[in-house]
Amino acid sequence: MRPTFLPFAAPSIGEEEIAEVVDTLRSGWLTTGPKVGRFEEEFAARVRAQHAVAVNSCTAALHLALEAVGIKRDDEVITSPMTFAATGEVIHYFGARPVFVDIDPVTMSIDPALLAATITRCRRPKAIIPVHVAGLACDMDPIAAIARQHGLKIIEDAAHAFPTRYKGRMIGAIGDVTCFSFYSTKTITTGEGGMATTDDPAIAERMRMMSLHGISKNAWTRYEAGGSWYYEILSPGFKYNMTDLAAALGLAQLKKADQFLARRQAIARRYTEAFAALADCLETPPDAPADSQHSWHLYVIKLRLDRLNVDRDQFITELKAARIGVSVHFIPLHMHPYYRETYGYRPEDFPRAREVYRRIISLPIYPSMTDADVESVIDAVTAVCRSHAK
Ligand SMILES: Cc1ncc(COP(=O)(O)O)c(C=O)c1O
Repeated sequence: MRPTFLPFAAPSIGEEEIAEVVDTLRSGWLTTGPKVGRFEEEFAARVRAQHAVAVNSCTAALHLALEAVGIKRDDEVITSPMTFAATGEVIHYFGARPVFVDIDPVTMSIDPALLAATITRCRRPKAIIPVHVAGLACDMDPIAAIARQHGLKIIEDAAHAFPTRYKGRMIGAIGDVTCFSFYSTKTITTGEGGMATTDDPAIAERMRMMSLHGISKNAWTRYEAGGSWYYEILSPGFKYNMTDLAAALGLAQLKKADQFLARRQAIARRYTEAFAALADCLETPPDAPADSQHSWHLYVIKLRLDRLNVDRDQFITELKAARIGVSVHFIPLHMHPYYRETYGYRPEDFPRAREVYRRIISLPIYPSMTDADVESVIDAVTAVCRSHAK
């Protein structure tokens, strides 16, 4: 057994990040300033988007995106139940209704065929939020075709999906707005942080304004030489701006994104190769097709419960006893009390999400894992499978 507990996730912070943050501290510019501007420019270039607006979380980016495309009370916003709290709650902020569409059980993302069927039953569909679960892109072509046909805006939840590619295109330059997360467990981190990218200048402008109280210009330019003290509130906005301290981390992390990705890909390859021997006990996650790229934010195995004499929760208990930190992504939104009580959803309404949920475990996958760490995860999973195979 491992001598120490292996955390489920850990950020990779090196001297470059520390130097960039210290530089910011010495500059005297702590809140939104020049480093946020640079981070936005470099991130936009990286995902090939025209505009990027840096904010303090992906949740904030999703909220601003729905506001900018004009979501109103009683509108319907379509998404997948297999997602985090944030995707659903931002819909609720507008008094709009989240309409869930069940998932493809292999990729765990929204099933375009079911989306097409669901939309015909909607009264006021306005937007769809595809979620690129684990960092594998949703099948965007049929989703975009359905959105076009019904006049829906596409707001991508790309919290897991940097750097992800779909058929040669970067996630970040496909939908009307794409929202990324830089939370501390994500593929690059600013501690807390997010980014909204878009090719539409009016949407970018609206999100930028609403991210800082709905005032008519960036607050920080007021204090520059030549800046004016005058501003106007054009709409009651929010306080979602990213700080230069966070952007300092982001700039350093962005430079390492390819190196981080290469390590995540190597770990995913090793897991998939090793778990081929456990094919009777578990399914490994799908990789992206040849013209696409998985970010490997998460590596999610699916237990074959009919072949094991334990359930997922006991499997996790035994992995924890072997000092391996794991997680579950996600408890489907429609199964949570709020969604059951408010919208009357029942667990069986989205049977694939419910069924997959019972089987999934997210294993550790992050750049600072050593080869020995990776082997210890493989050994622990193998041991639990072997001792409980039917
Ligand atoms: C799918 C998904 N969407 C949105 C978020 C929210 O991200 P943030 O914590 O940056 O607000 C998360 C966070 O883990 C997530 O997993």
